[in-house]
Amino acid sequence: MLIVTERDLIPTARRPRPRAYLMCAPEHFVVEYAINPWMDTTAPVDTALAVKQWDVLRQTMVDLGHTVHVLTPQAGLPDMVFSANGAFVVDGVAYGAKFRYPQRADEAAAHRAFYESRDEYAFVAPTQINEGEGDFAYLPDAHGGIALAGYGFRTEPAAHAEAAEALGRPVISLKLVDPRFYHLDVALTVLDDENIAYYPGAFSEASQQVIAQLFPNAVIADEADALAFALNLVSDGRNVVINTESTAFAEKLTAAGYHPVLVDLAELKKGGGSVKCCIAELRD
Ligand code: ARG
Repeated sequence: MLIVTERDLIPTARRPRPRAYLMCAPEHFVVEYAINPWMDTTAPVDTALAVKQWDVLRQTMVDLGHTVHVLTPQAGLPDMVFSANGAFVVDGVAYGAKFRYPQRADEAAAHRAFYESRDEYAFVAPTQINEGEGDFAYLPDAHGGIALAGYGFRTEPAAHAEAAEALGRPVISLKLVDPRFYHLDVALTVLDDENIAYYPGAFSEASQQVIAQLFPNAVIADEADALAFALNLVSDGRNVVINTESTAFAEKLTAAGYHPVLVDLAELKKGGGSVKCCIAELRD
């Protein structure tokens, strides 16, 4: 007799792929301006605790076998810890960021200097406002290699076309409609080379239709997951590094065959970011 157990229904073991990342310690992290609904300039921030939590995140990525490069934090750039916003790198081409708000504008130069100092990357300077991986995601094995791009709050749609031209990849424009989810990377995440997870309510009806057509097997997050910044995760294809507030979504990931690794980043949430915001992926 054939007995099918619950285990047999779990997809075959997901395979991790070693990655290279770029991070920046929150040594100067404070909330002294508010450019997203999560930032409250009157709430106290414990910078030392933010650094400790960030360091656990960095060490977690290293322990998972990944390479982590770091940028030198700069005084006066409190959001520099959110290194995912500095560029979007695909196949060794780094399409640079051009920040929406003047408070963050100077971060772009630090990222540019990083890419220009390394032979393996070709840096493309942007003319259009875009916040790097905050609003761009890449799936090497979906539809031959496509980028997803958010607009509505930060990145300009014109930057999506500029990125397509810089990278030679299709870029799918998705409209964000909820200010709490002002960047693509708090509304949608790449789980492996071909699949995503997302919170439908963060997108316009039409964009929800586009996503459903491209990713029929996507893992769906609910509003509570999205509010916990569950989607602001970093996956290597198997290990999914996600913040400790997101236990409910972590269970959904386990059911889908992934391996969640929980890290506490509560202090950085006061800036409106979590795991993914702190980690830019360098795709050679
Ligand atoms: N305070 C930062 C801002 O509003 C947070 C950026 C979060 N980064 C991200 N990739 N979503 O710009």
